[in-house]
Amino acid sequence: MMRNIVAGNWKSNKSINESREWMSEMSNLEGSMPKDVRVIVAPPAPYLAALAEVKPSNVILASQTVSATGSGAYTGEFTADMLTSCGVEFALIGHSERRGGYGETDEVVVDKISRCIEAGLGVVLCCGEPLEVRDSGGHEEMIARQLDSAMNNLSDVDPSKFVIAYEPIWAIGTGRTATSEQAGEMHTFIRSWLSDKFSQERANQISILYGGSCKPSNADELFANANVDGGLIGGASLKTEDFSQIIKAASK
Ligand code: 13P
Repeated sequence: MMRNIVAGNWKSNKSINESREWMSEMSNLEGSMPKDVRVIVAPPAPYLAALAEVKPSNVILASQTVSATGSGAYTGEFTADMLTSCGVEFALIGHSERRGGYGETDEVVVDKISRCIEAGLGVVLCCGEPLEVRDSGGHEEMIARQLDSAMNNLSDVDPSKFVIAYEPIWAIGTGRTATSEQAGEMHTFIRSWLSDKFSQERANQISILYGGSCKPSNADELFANANVDGGLIGGASLKTEDFSQIIKAASK
């Protein structure tokens, strides 16, 4: 299984027509894309089923969120099974914008992960510290706590369906990227946490992505770290020109 992944998170951006246009541009670029990088994109949920019909074969669809429950009387929620039935293969879980703004607590993260695993939906588990934690030197401790809590119930994971994204909150949408050294340190820390939790072999199979103001101009440097397996890209995933350059940078 290849560890290199570039994932786009469009957040609440694009119309359905713009989304279709993005897929058609990615289809035109498909032949020039490296074969050793998995490409994932998370468009707004209302477009997912339609985009599954038009996406190029090398693009994997993800949802930006998923319900912590199964089916039933949960107005507005959509379940992991609904997503897989629409051709979606992954869900982002624990994004800082969901933790911060929509009550995605550690407990909710745990429930969402189990729903995904039950449904066979892949997980992109996001973790990351705010600026004050980074400044006071508590970042490793905070990430360990987030991972401990999210994966407490898991004795193993399928590395083709479980991805970790380290997204320092102070680097998201701010233009202030973590330095290559900061990203390298945290990713090495996460790899070693995974090795303690599972095994060195399993840890070596799990993709760890960096997110936060990653763009064509800094992707090479960030991805040069042995433990940075690619990126979770916000703003720079909206244009296929930028996104495809980042995909090329993730080829190792
Ligand atoms: P930006 O790339 O826009 O900083 O966003 C990162 C992010 O939050 C991806 O999930």
